Amino acid sequence: MELDTVINTLCKKQKQKTKQNKTKHPMLEEWSCLTPIPRKPNMASSMRSLFSDHNRYVESFRRFLNSSTEHQCMQEFVDKKLPGITARIGDRKSEIKILSIGGGAGEIDLQILSKLQTQYPGIHINNEVVEPSAEQIAKYKELVAKTSNLENIKFAWHKETSSEYQNRIREKKEFQKWDFIHMIQMLYYVKDIPATLKFFHSLLATNAKMLIILVSGNSGWDKLWKKYGTRLPQDDLCQYVTSSDLTQMLDKLGIKYECYDLLSTMDISDCFTDGNENGELLCDFLTETCNFNTTAPPDLKAEIMKDLQESEFSVKKEGKVLFNNNLSFIVVEA
Ligand SMILES: C[S@@+](CC[C@H](N)C(=O)[O-])C[C@H]1O[C@@H](n2cnc3c(N)ncnc32)[C@H](O)[C@@H]1O
Repeated sequence: MELDTVINTLCKKQKQKTKQNKTKHPMLEEWSCLTPIPRKPNMASSMRSLFSDHNRYVESFRRFLNSSTEHQCMQEFVDKKLPGITARIGDRKSEIKILSIGGGAGEIDLQILSKLQTQYPGIHINNEVVEPSAEQIAKYKELVAKTSNLENIKFAWHKETSSEYQNRIREKKEFQKWDFIHMIQMLYYVKDIPATLKFFHSLLATNAKMLIILVSGNSGWDKLWKKYGTRLPQDDLCQYVTSSDLTQMLDKLGIKYECYDLLSTMDISDCFTDGNENGELLCDFLTETCNFNTTAPPDLKAEIMKDLQESEFSVKKEGKVLFNNNLSFIVVEA
């Protein structure tokens, strides 16, 4: 059940359109043109973005979650680090205001809320969610409905992207302050990340914190994107952005932060067994390419498969190849 709910954080609300590479993503209303590593269409092959095939994307994401420690890593952070980070956000307050950007189906959000309830017993919590996918909002509401002990939490959902939220707030000039803002695995889908960071930073109340989770700059993802990004299919949906890019943006903006890296791995052993279905789906997820094994030019495939076993990308342990899926938790100060 937990897995299904999380998979749905990436679900799209319409049926997939498999033909066009540049079809607007059904869920995302912002477009990425500020990709740090530009992608170009690979004219020599029939490779197309994994995002163009909704079902395959959801299935490969599910395989990724099954094969990785992504969620255990986030849970560990929430359990061990979050209480220290949020230790003062509720100082002298009768209500704690939380803003979740891209909250998806709410799984991680509820873990965070549960921690805050324990930390601030009896204090009322106002949790607002900015999420463009109606499907995800419906899932989030279902999760809330079946979760106990949420009595002192008030929920509100805004079906909009972060930039639509920003525009609405600016138009109405309703710049209310928040005690905790989080953006978990969602900044890849935002067009103007520095502007987004600046805006939400300006909404932090005294003692407030903002938590951003992204893949780490020391992860295998960073190496893979840097080395092969230009040879993989183009899509307008998602930027190759890691914590290194993000901390550079924060430095430029003069915003203070702390960055914690947590180890996470993805077991990619199956990728090296010909015809293994799980391996093929994991390869698709890694390369964000639909049917990578059958559509990639042989030289590109050979290079990537070789590199994935190198120590820069993975470790070999107990007969398994474990891809470096390290996550960064960036805590921004008010
Ligand atoms: C990888 S999911 C993460 C969901 C959730 N934060 C979690 O960790 O379980 C990314 C979420 O961001 C949402 N999203 C995509 N583009 C967005 C945007 N421009 N503004 C806000 N949310 C967005 C998606 O609908 C999706 O629910």
